[in-house]
Amino acid sequence: MRDKETLKQEIMDAFHFRHATKAFDPDKKILEEDFRFILEAGRLSPSSFGFEPWRFVVVQNAALREKIKQTSWGAFSKLPEASHFVILLARTKLDTVYHAKYLKDHLRDVLQFPDEALDKYLTRVEEFQRDDFKLLEGDRPLFDWACKQTYVALANMMTVAAQIGIDSCPIEGFNMDKMNQLLEEEDLLENGHFGISVMAAFGYRVKEPRLKTRRPFDDVVKWVD
Ligand SMILES: Cc1cc2nc3c(=O)[nH]c(=O)nc-3n(C[C@H](O)[C@H](O)[C@H](O)COP(=O)(O)O)c2cc1C
Repeated sequence: MRDKETLKQEIMDAFHFRHATKAFDPDKKILEEDFRFILEAGRLSPSSFGFEPWRFVVVQNAALREKIKQTSWGAFSKLPEASHFVILLARTKLDTVYHAKYLKDHLRDVLQFPDEALDKYLTRVEEFQRDDFKLLEGDRPLFDWACKQTYVALANMMTVAAQIGIDSCPIEGFNMDKMNQLLEEEDLLENGHFGISVMAAFGYRVKEPRLKTRRPFDDVVKWVD
């Protein structure tokens, strides 16, 4: 087992290695087992109440990639060169509102809740959605809540990718309505149960990035002792 300082240095090196990669090497492909490792980091990510309101669609099909390229200005330069391309979908209100069948099924089948505990728990979820986070006013707050969870998975995927020397770029550069329309036409949104949250390209850089810039540590971190 490596000592803690070595481990910390390796992790920090990965954070410095990761950058929003603008151009990928079309000739370098990620091994399938490495990409599964990246997806697994997404799957194991935490989510509010453990609801996992996401789906990771890996788009390797050239024709669909071309359509996405034409619809997403932020992905334009990454497609078709990126080795792997992922669309992170978020579940819509149909699946995330407190009385949704998906939530009940998920609590019972995945989280192993006993039947008698379900209703009490879902009442807590209802209070959270209605009062604490005010997610029930319109369709968008619940969808955005699910989208937030996908960003946790996205961050973990990019971090573990960097730890094994794989580059990535998160992509929000698209018109949501147009991308949802495209994905609906491709039959990827399960009749309105999913919508697009964010996308990410993975692969290998063609050139070194410019030096990383960030605000100073003491500007970003505030300690309250
Ligand atoms: C949620 C999110 C969406 C982003 N969307 C795009 C995008 O569409 N296209 C792009 O080239 N970069 C995109 N970026 C990359 C950012 O511009 C980049 O992460 C930021 O400038 C910091 O640079 P670094 O990641 O290289 O350290 C996105 C980043 C995040 C976190």
